[in-house]
Amino acid sequence: MTTPDNNAPGQRAATTPAKDPWDLPDVSGLVVGVLGGTGDQGRGLAYRLGRAGQQVIIGSRSADRARTAAEEIGAGVQGAANDECARRSDVVIVAVPWDGHAATLEALRDDLAGKLVVDCVNPLGFDKRGAYAIVPKEGSAAEQAAGLLPESRVTAAFHHLSAVLLQDPSVERIDTDVMVLGDARADTDIVQALAARIPGMRGVFAGRLRNAHQVESLVANLISTNRRYKAHAGLRLTDV
Ligand SMILES: NC(=O)c1ccc[n+]([C@@H]2O[C@H](COP(=O)([O-])OP(=O)(O)OC[C@H]3O[C@@H](n4cnc5c(N)ncnc54)[C@H](OP(=O)(O)O)[C@@H]3O)[C@@H](O)[C@H]2O)c1
Repeated sequence: MTTPDNNAPGQRAATTPAKDPWDLPDVSGLVVGVLGGTGDQGRGLAYRLGRAGQQVIIGSRSADRARTAAEEIGAGVQGAANDECARRSDVVIVAVPWDGHAATLEALRDDLAGKLVVDCVNPLGFDKRGAYAIVPKEGSAAEQAAGLLPESRVTAAFHHLSAVLLQDPSVERIDTDVMVLGDARADTDIVQALAARIPGMRGVFAGRLRNAHQVESLVANLISTNRRYKAHAGLRLTDV
C-alpha cells in the first residue's frame, strides 16, 4: 500500500494533511530494556530514563551482575539476564560493544521478535592515532541488527551521548540532540519521544537505516574533539 511516508517528493495525496513532525506519542507507559546495561552507556541511559519516570530493565549476560548494577544505578531501574530483559520490555536498547553485537542479537532473535529495538552501537577501532570508524559489511551496526532480527522493528539512536554526563547525578540537563534513524515513522517517533523524556534532549529524525553508518562513525570525530578540549561534546542540529 502506498502511504504518504513512502511517496516520492511531490506525490503526497492532496487530501492527506501533513503530520506535525513534533507531534510525538506518549511513551511514558513503555518498558525500556537495555542490553549490556551494566556498561557505561547502558547504565547512563538507564539512569536518565529511570530518573525521568520510565520503567527500565537493564540486561546482562549474568542476571546477578544486572541486579547488582541496577541497585547501584537506582532510579527504580531493575536488572535481569539479557533474554529476560528483552522479553519483558517494549523497547530494547542495544548497548553492547561492537565485538559482541552480532552474537548477542543472534542469540536473542526470538526474545526480540515484535520489539522495537534501538541500536546505539558505534563500530569503532582505536590505535595510537585515536579512534576511527569501522565499516561493517552490512553497512552499519544498525543494518546488521536489522538483518539479524527480521521480526523486530530496528531503529538507531543515542550514539552521540556522553556516558559520563548520563551517569553524573549532579548534571540536571543534557542539552543535546539525538539523531534517530529508522525505516518506519511510527517507530522513529517513539524513539524521538523517549529521547525527549530526558531534560535538555530532543530526538530528531535523521534518515533511514541505510544512513546509519555516518551517524555511528561520527563518534570517532566526537572522541577526537573530546580529547583535544577535555570535553563531553554532544550535537545540536540547527534550524529544526
Ligand atoms: N560509552 C559511551 O560513551 C558510548 C556512547 C554512545 C554509544 N556507545 C555504544 O554503546 C555500546 C556500549 O558501550 P559501553 O562503553 O557501555 O561498553 P562496555 O562497558 O564495554 O560494554 C557494555 C556491556 O556489554 C556487555 N558485554 C561486554 N562484552 C560483551 C560481549 N562480547 N558480548 C555481549 N555483551 C558484552 C558487558 O555486560 P555484561 O558483562 O554484564 O553482560 C558490558 O558491561 C558500544 O557499542 C558503544 O559504541 C557508548
